[in-house]
This record gives sequence, structure tokens and C-alpha cells, in this order.
Amino acid sequence: MEKSIKFIYKDETFEFPLVGGTENELGIDIKTLRALTGLVTLDPGFKNSGSCESGVTFLDGEKGILKYRGYSIDDLAKGADFLEVAYLLIFGELPTSAQLEKFQSDINEEAIVDEDLKTILKSFPKTAHPMGILASLTSALTAFNPSSVDVGSEEEMYQAIVTILAKFPILVGWTQRKVKGLPLNYYDTKLSYVDNVAQMMFKKPNSEYTSNPIVIEALNKLLILHADHEQNCSTSTVRIVGSSHAGLFASISAGISALWGPLHGGANQAVIEMLEAIKEDGGDTKKFMAKAKDKSDPFRLMGFGHRVYKNFDPRAKIIKVAADEVLNELGIVDPVLDIAKGLEQEALSDSYFVDRKLYPNVDFYSGIIYRALGIPTEMFTVMFALGRLPGWIAQWKEMRENNEPIGRPRQIYTGETNKVLKTIEKR
Ligand code: CMC
Repeated sequence: MEKSIKFIYKDETFEFPLVGGTENELGIDIKTLRALTGLVTLDPGFKNSGSCESGVTFLDGEKGILKYRGYSIDDLAKGADFLEVAYLLIFGELPTSAQLEKFQSDINEEAIVDEDLKTILKSFPKTAHPMGILASLTSALTAFNPSSVDVGSEEEMYQAIVTILAKFPILVGWTQRKVKGLPLNYYDTKLSYVDNVAQMMFKKPNSEYTSNPIVIEALNKLLILHADHEQNCSTSTVRIVGSSHAGLFASISAGISALWGPLHGGANQAVIEMLEAIKEDGGDTKKFMAKAKDKSDPFRLMGFGHRVYKNFDPRAKIIKVAADEVLNELGIVDPVLDIAKGLEQEALSDSYFVDRKLYPNVDFYSGIIYRALGIPTEMFTVMFALGRLPGWIAQWKEMRENNEPIGRPRQIYTGETNKVLKTIEKR
């Protein structure tokens, strides 16, 4: 196997080592490029650039493979609990029962939020987008908890991780209750982590909460499927913010903002809105397909395409089956599920989508399940954030433990040069 790559610039040959990953990926290590040649690379959107070496998540976009710490996403979605997957991502190994019990009990211990946070929540208008509320409340947590972590201390690191894992679902629950105008309720240490999420969102003030196993299983699966996805936009944001040694909660709050956009996590909300719009318009999927292909129309088929997957998104396959199962089990008939399936069929046989390797992604069917579970559309991306939390934590921890340098890309300057300052009257 080649060990390095050579290139010639101004008649001089430069050699750069190749770096190999455990799944046989190869990259060029250009750490010395600028020092040796004076050149920088230009790669908007980082389509070709690796920002780090990471042992958390592997994905092969060509083959449609996704693994967390070496475990396939199919196996984890079928046979694991979300908290076990969180532990796996963050600490590198699946927990033993004793480790899981301690983890759950440490989380239970921290599952309290300062009452003053309610004042902040109260001051948001009901129309505020839940992602904005969640990002703000997460950032506000720094005011009530230690805002920085001594990464050299295993104990402090563990405590910060358990604290955010414990408090975040409460913020998610409160965000939903704010939107719905319901009284805020609390984490119940008798229930599991995922059951608590459901309980905090759905418990009515006038009746007992009874857990529905279909809802819990579906939520558990969705959270696992969203738990990490290597160096995507929000994760890169968390790593880059954390690289300035900003605290864990502040870095995660930045990740929430990055996730909000419709090209990233916000796509799950955009998909349902698109499917609803197609339904309202009479269900003519062909018309919307034509719009998506028309380069003069900004409309995109939401829930389609992916930066890395150039084959089926393995998460989308699992979610599509789950959507059918959950709707059947709950006895729900949702016409947008048929519209989604119709759109998928058309896209898979349309040369525009086939040539560009555009397949349904994780967000295409997830909203249909969230909706069946009674989660409001504008909360969908919040659910994505809850699922992604362990991934953000794991990636932040890895970045700090590897002592990565501050993230600070270069640029090619294309602005004005040497302009002469004129007084305001002469401009
Ligand atoms: N509908 C129509 N055309 C599309 C779509 C789409 N959904 N996605 C990509 N294309 C076209 C795009 O116009 C371009 O065509 P051309 O080569 O003729 O200029 C080509 O496909 C490549 O697209 P790109 O924008 O250069 O690809 P990218 O890797 O920069 O973007 C993406 C990836 C996910 C942002 C994009 O596919 C997209 O906007 N999809 C819709 C939004 C969406 O579903 N996002 C969720 C992504 S998965 C979950 C997550 O990341 O959170």
C-alpha cells in the first residue's frame, strides 16, 4: 500500500504521508502543507476534508453502512436501549449491568433543574420555535452549573456528562409543554430514561400517566438512530466551539442551533410540512418532483439526499419499516405516509435523483412516526437533538481528550486591496 503522496509545485517535489483508518479509509495528512509550500487548501463545505481522527462512529456512504464504536446500527436499533447506546458512544464500550445501573442512578441524581430556569422559559412567547427555546435553555444551564470542565479530571468529566444527560430531557419536556400550554412536570426516578421523556412530554395534569410500550419502543429506536453521525454540521459545530475550550453545555447549545437548519436536522419538520402541502394541493407528487428538479425553483425534495450517503441511508430503511409498524400498532391511518411512499418510488426511478444518488435520508419518514406518537411538528427537530445529545458529548469528549488544537480554518481572500481612506464628505 502507498504510504505517502507526492506533488510537484514550482519544480519542487513535496511528500505528504497517507493516514489510514481501521475501516481502510485513506486520507492525506497535510499538517505541514503551508509550512513547507506556503499553500493552503480550498474546500468549501469540507466536502473532501477530514477535520479529525475519530473512534466514535463509522459510516460508509457508498455502501450505506453505519456503526457506533464498531456495532452496526441495525443491531443496536433492534437490541439495545438508548441509555446503553449513549454509554457506548461516550465511554467506548457497552455497559455491564452494574455500570448501567450506576449510570442511570447518577443521571437520576442530577435530574433536577434550577427553578429559576422556569422564569427564562416563561418569558418566551408561545409562538417561539422550540429549537430556539432549547438552545437558550441549554446555554442558560451554564449559569446554574459549573460552566467549564477540567478535562484532566475523569470525575469532573463524568459529572458534566451525567448532568447534561439528566437535565436535557427535562428541558425537552418543558419546551414541548410551553408550546402546548401545559404545566411543567418533572423527571420521575422510578421510570427509565426514555419513559421519562414520554412522561415529561405527554403526562396530562388531570390524569395518571400510563406508559405505552409501543410509544416507548418507537422513541427508543428513533433516539438510537439519531445518536451520532460522525462529523456532520452540528457535531462539527460542537467540536469547533469546544476546541476554544468553551464548556460542554455551551458547545452543545451551539450544536442545537446548527441542527435547527432545514438542510440538517430541521429537515424532519420540513418534510412533514412538504408532505402536508402536497396533500393540500391535491396529492400531485409529480408536480412537486418537477419543482425539485427545476433549477430555477429553490424547492428541494426535503428528506432526500445526503452529503455522505450515496446509497440508501441505513437509518431511513429502519425508520420506514418502523413507521409502518408504529402506525399499524397504534391504529393510525396517516395519508401522508402514502404520499411519502409514492414520492420515494417516483424518485427512485427518476434519472435526476438516480444520477445524483439522492435517496431518502433519516428525516424522510421520522416525522410520520413522531406525529403518530403525538409530538407536534415544530418539536421534531428537538427530538432529533435529544437523540443526538450522546453523540455530541462523545465527540466533544474525544476532541478535548485528544487535546485537539483550536479549530480555525484558512481562507483565500478575494476582497479589495489597498483602498485609500476618504473623509465622509468625499465618499
Ligand atoms: N432535492 C432536489 N435536488 C437535490 C436535493 C434534493 N433534496 N439534494 C441535492 N440535490 C441536487 C442538488 O441540486 C445538486 O444538483 P446539481 O449537481 O445539478 O447542482 C446535487 O443534487 C448535489 O447536491 P448538493 O447540494 O451539492 O449536495 P450536498 O452534499 O451539499 O447537500 C443535502 C446534501 C442533504 C444538504 C442536500 O441533499 C439537501 O438539501 N437535501 C434536502 C434537505 C435534507 O433532507 N436534509 C437532511 C439531511 S440528513 C439528516 C441530517 O443531516 O440532519
